[in-house]
Amino acid sequence: MRQDTLASRPGGASVAVMTLTEILPTLRSSLPAHLEAGVWPVTARWGDGGDLQVGGVSLAAVAAEHGTPAFVVDEADVRGRCRDYAAAFGAADVAYTGKALLSIDVARWVAAEGLGLYAGSAGEVRVAALAGFDMSRVVLYGSAKTPEDLDTAYAAGVGTVVVESLGEIARIAATAPAGQRVLVRVLAGPEPAGGHDRRFGLRVAGGEAAAAVARIAAQPGLRLAGFDCSIGHQLNRFSLYEQEIRRLCAFAAEMRRAHGIEPEQINLGGGHAVAYRPAELGLALEAFATRMRGVLRLEAGRHGMPAPRLTVSPGRAVVARAGVTVYRVLAVTRTPDGDRLVAVDGGMSDCPATALCGSRHSAVLVGRAGRAIAGPAVVVGRHNDADDVVVPDAELPADVHPGDLLAVAGTGAYHHARATNFHLVARPALVAVADGRARALVRRESLDDVLARDLGR
Ligand SMILES: Cc1ncc(COP(=O)(O)O)c(C=O)c1O
Repeated sequence: MRQDTLASRPGGASVAVMTLTEILPTLRSSLPAHLEAGVWPVTARWGDGGDLQVGGVSLAAVAAEHGTPAFVVDEADVRGRCRDYAAAFGAADVAYTGKALLSIDVARWVAAEGLGLYAGSAGEVRVAALAGFDMSRVVLYGSAKTPEDLDTAYAAGVGTVVVESLGEIARIAATAPAGQRVLVRVLAGPEPAGGHDRRFGLRVAGGEAAAAVARIAAQPGLRLAGFDCSIGHQLNRFSLYEQEIRRLCAFAAEMRRAHGIEPEQINLGGGHAVAYRPAELGLALEAFATRMRGVLRLEAGRHGMPAPRLTVSPGRAVVARAGVTVYRVLAVTRTPDGDRLVAVDGGMSDCPATALCGSRHSAVLVGRAGRAIAGPAVVVGRHNDADDVVVPDAELPADVHPGDLLAVAGTGAYHHARATNFHLVARPALVAVADGRARALVRRESLDDVLARDLGR
């Protein structure tokens, strides 16, 4: 018997408390898997007969209509996260970083909730424009911007451009509309001990960031509005961001003395952690916002500056939880070591985050009631690659078999956005669910789409 809980009795003696499913193992087989709040979309609910519903829509029905794999996104969850950010920071001070997940309708939701957008390419800028975004709220960023990125951004009238290398300043000054607002992406922290520092931005150490500010100050066509940074991903420790504010304020104060530039804005980036598993911790937003504002006021005051606006640009934390991928099981096998492998009809072509970022998702059987007791399973993809693992340590009913459907949680960020045609597979549809309706935002690719660019045909 596994001791899940230890209850203390008066007098100090401990007693092992059995869970209901341990007392009655057959009950375990007839209960649907628990949907942990914070891991599954806010609207995820079990219906009858193992029917998992998101946004009031059966995932089995989505699979039947749009095929599998299917990326499902809960509109209420995305909008709710946008509202959480707006409540914590003020909508005007939050820009969603679209690289996590972007389509024209996703951009419309973000705009409707009053947030801005960090766009990292000509494509993302065009999506914002097609969504009817207020382009003054769009920020073009990127460590290596192409001429097309810049030209598209200027033509669309993006409000701000982030300068991320010394070499691009003259190019931006020569091509941008007069008075273009810019931020400087600063690398303020120390170089990592002993390793190569391959982060992007302008280093404070060695004077690169100061040189960039001097060059921008000498360009009458550019207006330096402040500083920007990105310190990492999946972070939930406030202290890392506090340190960054201290460093950015010290640098901003130095630039103010040198060039008389009054920083209007400090963008603290994104990188906010989300929980992929029940035991994981996301970033506590309200407390984070209050603390960061306090630290910024204090630090600016220490340097005798008015506090700049504090802005954030989260990507993953806005959309990760809203996404669920629905797969169909194609094969179930055992390894010589006895591990159960459940192979699905997708994998690293639509779930690159597991291989690249180590995100560990949760999976459940959907579309029928699992009658058998759950046990460990490795959910693998179809790509004949040892790294092609969707969920390394799932708990699935013993009778999972080909034809079953699995739903994998937490796939809203960096899944649709990073999906590829690896193995010449067609990419899945992106389907929004809300108020009992499913709607394809991006249609499923056909094999003809995939082969259309092959000029050998
Ligand atoms: C300024 C900035 N904000 C946010 C992000 C997105 O990070 P995350 O999705 O971890 O929030 C990036 C990503 O590179 C970034 O450069």
